[in-house]
Amino acid sequence: MTAAPAPPTLLERIDRLRRERHAVILAHNYQLPAVQDMADFVGDSLGLSRAAAATDAAVIVFCGVHFMAETAAILCPDKVVLLPDLDAGCSLADTITADQLRAWKAEHPGAVVVSYVNTTAAVKAESDYCCTSSNAEAVIRSIPEDREILFLPDMFLGAHLQRVTGRRLNIWMGECHVHAGIDPEHLEAMRREHPDAELLIHPECGCTTSTLYRMSQGDLGGTSTVVCSTEGMVRRAVESPATSFIVATEVGILHRMEKFAPGKRFVPASREAVCRFMKMITPEKIAACLERMQPRVTVDPETAAQARAAIDRMLAVAA
Ligand code: 13P
Ligand code: SF4
Repeated sequence: MTAAPAPPTLLERIDRLRRERHAVILAHNYQLPAVQDMADFVGDSLGLSRAAAATDAAVIVFCGVHFMAETAAILCPDKVVLLPDLDAGCSLADTITADQLRAWKAEHPGAVVVSYVNTTAAVKAESDYCCTSSNAEAVIRSIPEDREILFLPDMFLGAHLQRVTGRRLNIWMGECHVHAGIDPEHLEAMRREHPDAELLIHPECGCTTSTLYRMSQGDLGGTSTVVCSTEGMVRRAVESPATSFIVATEVGILHRMEKFAPGKRFVPASREAVCRFMKMITPEKIAACLERMQPRVTVDPETAAQARAAIDRMLAVAA
């Protein structure tokens, strides 16, 4: 008697479904290692938008949070966008609604509205420009000097942009609870423990402004400091001559850094910097959503067209 064949593993099931559904799996840099490893593409918000726009797959399984899946749905109206868990939200995107933005715009008639990508489709639809952490500076610089700017929703990124561009911005006082928690005290303690490490800081962090200020005062000694998007951090980890790094962002990024720069050492600025929304996506939920072709993320055509205009203006400035 021959033994029954072993049942397929979870990964084999996902691979079979991915082929059958003509699906592509996109994963953000903060996803669980197992999710990153099975994805067709891993990257930051901008990279994922580009990958969504470029794919010829019929189905996009978006392993990230809701606003990112919405952005994919806006860019690919003819594709099915699946988000393995609809509860994967974003505390930063939740800090401003379209109604609140309309009220803010009414207080500043004629101002140019620049929205960080961590916003709902409805907020993007009320915006002139979208931006991500990798192109926010270029977007702000592209706006004529004499125009008033409303920047939302992240106050730490807004303060960083004011500093690097020298522009005065009206900034919405939103924050991401994960990044706001990485404060100057956390970073200082890590710097004392690892004096030779290079600092890689995401601009959403609560420590960004004070660290850059101290750097400009020559107060950080020879410590090399780079403020960049999650993808910029991976690139820097590979290209930098440094061999150890303090990484100030969500801890999921360490998996990619260790993969792309083996032999280098990466320590998180805070081990508590875990985005529970990003971690809601699991291999089991990926298999289930491919099986059922649910849950889907859609954006109504009118909102999508307006939001798309803000995204296209961003891409035109910093493609
Ligand atoms: P990146 O665009 O740098 O990947 O950042 C997205 C994000 O949600 C950071 O918290
Ligand atoms: Fe949103 Fe913060 Fe999570 Fe990024 S880390 S997805 S900004 S809650």
